[in-house]
Amino acid sequence: MADKGAPIPVTQPALLETRGPGSVKVALDVNGVSRIVHLEPRVSLLDALREQMALTGTKKGCDQGTCGACTVWVDGRRVLSCLTLAISCEGREVTTIEGLAEGDELHPMQRAFLEHDAFQCGYCTPGQIMSAVALLNEGHAGTDGEIAEWMSGNICRCAAYPLIRSAIREVRDRKTGQ
Ligand code: FES
Ligand code: FES
Repeated sequence: MADKGAPIPVTQPALLETRGPGSVKVALDVNGVSRIVHLEPRVSLLDALREQMALTGTKKGCDQGTCGACTVWVDGRRVLSCLTLAISCEGREVTTIEGLAEGDELHPMQRAFLEHDAFQCGYCTPGQIMSAVALLNEGHAGTDGEIAEWMSGNICRCAAYPLIRSAIREVRDRKTGQ
């Protein structure tokens, strides 16, 4: 007969710190600046940027992940900030359209958008530019078709797509010396 012996001790998993559901302190690094904000853990990165940090360059279109107006970078990769919890960005580097220019010097993609009239109302433009720069870094701008495909998450209600593509082409070709 099997020895019943002493019961096997059960190891308790380490307890995770509980934060929320009320307002908690969240440390965020945005455009190279460390900031402390107080927000509920359910708050999106988009709302934290716009309402807590007054960084209103990032736009709210649909607030449900379908238009791309809220595109920012987290650790250099584009994300939809309306679908990203601000608290999940602790310890990561967030970059918004406000962080793209070097002082008074616009980013080449911002200049190209101006030169090519790649916007009408301009509402989608910050998200388009954040995606456009990421697209070049990702190496997804070989052809117009490829640009259209990899920019397809950014909707423009003014349909400025041909001019957006020509701005992206120009920055791409300048980079490759064509
Ligand atoms: S506001 Fe985020 S995708 Fe539309
Ligand atoms: S320029 Fe108006 S939505 Fe794109």
